[in-house]
Amino acid sequence: MADPISRFATRVAYGARQLPRLAWYLGHGMVMRRLSAAERRRAGASARPAAHTDRPVPDRSRLYADMAALFQRDLANVEAGIYPLPADHDGSWPILLERSRLFFTDLPEVHRRREGRRHREVFSPATRGRRPGYYLQNFHFQSGGWLTPESAQRYDIQVEVLFNGSANAIRRQALVPLHEVFAGRDQRQLKLLDVGCGTGRLIDFIKQAWPRLPVVGLDMSDSYLTEARRHLRRWGWHNLVVAKAEAIPLPDASQDALTCVFLFHELPPKVRRQALAEFARVLKPGGRLVLLDSLQYGDEPDYDGMLELFPQNFHEPYYAGYLTEDFPALAAEHGLAHVRDVNAFTGKVMVFDKR
Ligand SMILES: C[S@@+](CC[C@H](N)C(=O)[O-])C[C@H]1O[C@@H](n2cnc3c(N)ncnc32)[C@H](O)[C@@H]1O
Repeated sequence: MADPISRFATRVAYGARQLPRLAWYLGHGMVMRRLSAAERRRAGASARPAAHTDRPVPDRSRLYADMAALFQRDLANVEAGIYPLPADHDGSWPILLERSRLFFTDLPEVHRRREGRRHREVFSPATRGRRPGYYLQNFHFQSGGWLTPESAQRYDIQVEVLFNGSANAIRRQALVPLHEVFAGRDQRQLKLLDVGCGTGRLIDFIKQAWPRLPVVGLDMSDSYLTEARRHLRRWGWHNLVVAKAEAIPLPDASQDALTCVFLFHELPPKVRRQALAEFARVLKPGGRLVLLDSLQYGDEPDYDGMLELFPQNFHEPYYAGYLTEDFPALAAEHGLAHVRDVNAFTGKVMVFDKR
């Protein structure tokens, strides 16, 4: 147990890093909601009907209380030595301001797509056949889908605004079940695969905890991997590959751990099953799978309405099916034993071990 002075210093350092960050992304969210309310008022009767749910929706005070609990847990994990004091690496001031500019200047385009329910702009003669059809959509109504450098540069700020600044703290909860299986082992002798690694945010936190752990990041987007390369350039012992979750170019039983964050809610049911089969194939016996994704119905009953509203406001064609998917049963079909689920604000960490 740390002495009171170093404990105090850790808490001050944690607050000094996280509070301004929270204020930055919460502020972006407030401005965004005002802009979109003003746009809806301007559009008046021509606007599409408002999203609707009969299920319970948490109010702001409940959301903020649950977010505070997440950050307390994040700090407790640091104090318990599960991972070091996190550095979020959002970038220098010029990068932050540039990302903010990219975010705000794109809002009218996102709004136009949402109002017109246009979500197939990235499916074109240039892209058709180069990626599966389900992938060639403007998920979240975002410009460029998963395909362009600008989309990759906007992604992190978009996600943090959506999660009120808590996305990285949610991601870090995936390190807890990794710590359980890595503790006391030589990290250089282990192998971890992060599937759908996007811009590499989870890999950065994994590297902060285990700098010499060999990590492969896999994603179908060249542009997102370019952004991940930029973001991860301070680290060695990693490799980023363009590939599909449902056809992983790695040998059977080669990985000690596999992580997958915010991907499964974006996969069609059939692809979810193929991906789980691939995860089971590449994991060693005893290997650990950590799936981190959205809450599902019933995980936090007071959030069920918010979950139902999400795909009405963002293009998320497979989210409704995700909300009722029985992951422990699906995983069991492939020899992956369910260990536990742990809710993390609007996210959920699902832990499995390969038998
Ligand atoms: C919502 S983002 C999540 C990114 C990242 N894991 C994070 O923590 O933010 C989904 C990512 O999965 C990738 N993706 C979607 N379908 C995929 C598939 N079938 N195989 C590999 N990557 C996929 C996208 O290119 C995108 O980078």
